[in-house]
Amino acid sequence: MGAIIRILKAILLVFSFGFTKSSGPLQCYNDYAAELKCTLTLPDPNDCSENKASILIPKDRYFECRFDQIPTGGCECRIQDVPGFVIREIFRVNVSKGNAIWHMENISTEESIKPRRPIITSVVPKPSGDFLITFNTTYTKRDTFSKSLLVELTYAIEGSDDDVTKLLGEGLTTYEIVGSNLQPNAEYVLRARMKSSYSPNDVFSDYSEPRVFKTSPSLQNILKIILPVLCLILILCTFSIYFWFNRILKPWWDKIPTPKFSSNFVKQVPQLLSFQNELSSVSPVSTEKLMAKKI
Ligand SMILES: *[C@@H]1O[C@H](CO)[C@@H](O)[C@H](O)[C@H]1NC(C)=O
Ligand SMILES: *[C@@H]1O[C@H](CO)[C@@H](O)[C@H](O)[C@H]1NC(C)=O
Ligand SMILES: *[C@@H]1O[C@H](CO)[C@@H](O)[C@H](O)[C@H]1NC(C)=O
Repeated sequence: MGAIIRILKAILLVFSFGFTKSSGPLQCYNDYAAELKCTLTLPDPNDCSENKASILIPKDRYFECRFDQIPTGGCECRIQDVPGFVIREIFRVNVSKGNAIWHMENISTEESIKPRRPIITSVVPKPSGDFLITFNTTYTKRDTFSKSLLVELTYAIEGSDDDVTKLLGEGLTTYEIVGSNLQPNAEYVLRARMKSSYSPNDVFSDYSEPRVFKTSPSLQNILKIILPVLCLILILCTFSIYFWFNRILKPWWDKIPTPKFSSNFVKQVPQLLSFQNELSSVSPVSTEKLMAKKI
């Protein structure tokens, strides 16, 4: 089952990769705050710095940025001082090499939203075994844009592929992971990313820094440890009682003298018996005679 899921994931990855590649040499994203980032795919990444993008955002905001090669192989340019973005605005981008414009593109603001990555503020274990997770979207709460954000969190046991993914409701920044759905005594890695409902393209932010949290051992696990210990203690107790009895109690017990009255008691019994015989040997007739004689 896990293998099938992994193969499906790989196929999906190849497809999504293919789609982003086929959408053109230029890909621009805005964080709906201040940054516009464009990546350029060139046959030869060494040509990055020969290219520049000129960008016109409506109401005469004009920016130019030069591409640089990035470690992943593509070219990237960033403008980090855009004074805000507005939904339904279209910005125009010209890509030029030297003086020759070789690519032109119109980009819609909402379609190119890629939010900043969120921060996992805290993971608080509760007495019930659940975990309360809180996020900082890094966008101010007063901003209506922050209410459009959907946080997606993913967690898995460290080193395992069986991750659980949860998409929170719009604007929510807390989530409670139910402890009984987690494996006890395990180390989980939690990551979060988010997208905006303003964007029809569902472009997710990068993932947050991972956060590790540990589940506590279950009652069954505790019993598994405690029961053998209890048994061992019980066996030790039994042995030590037996030892003390043999070594100390028994010799002491044997030293107590047997009481003498018991033999006297046995000797007295035949005397009683002979007395009874004497009585019975006296017949009623003879007693009458005796009585008569006495009279
Ligand atoms: C892009 O090039 C066209 C044609 O040269 C020009 O009219 C337009 O102003 C340029 N736009 C930007 C953002 O540089
Ligand atoms: C961008 O939009 C402008 C105005 O609507 C249009 O004149 C121009 O042809 C468009 N350019 C591209 C590359 O689609
Ligand atoms: C959220 O993160 C931002 C950027 O790091 C910080 O300026 C802000 O104070 C944080 N907000 C809260 C409520 O922690």
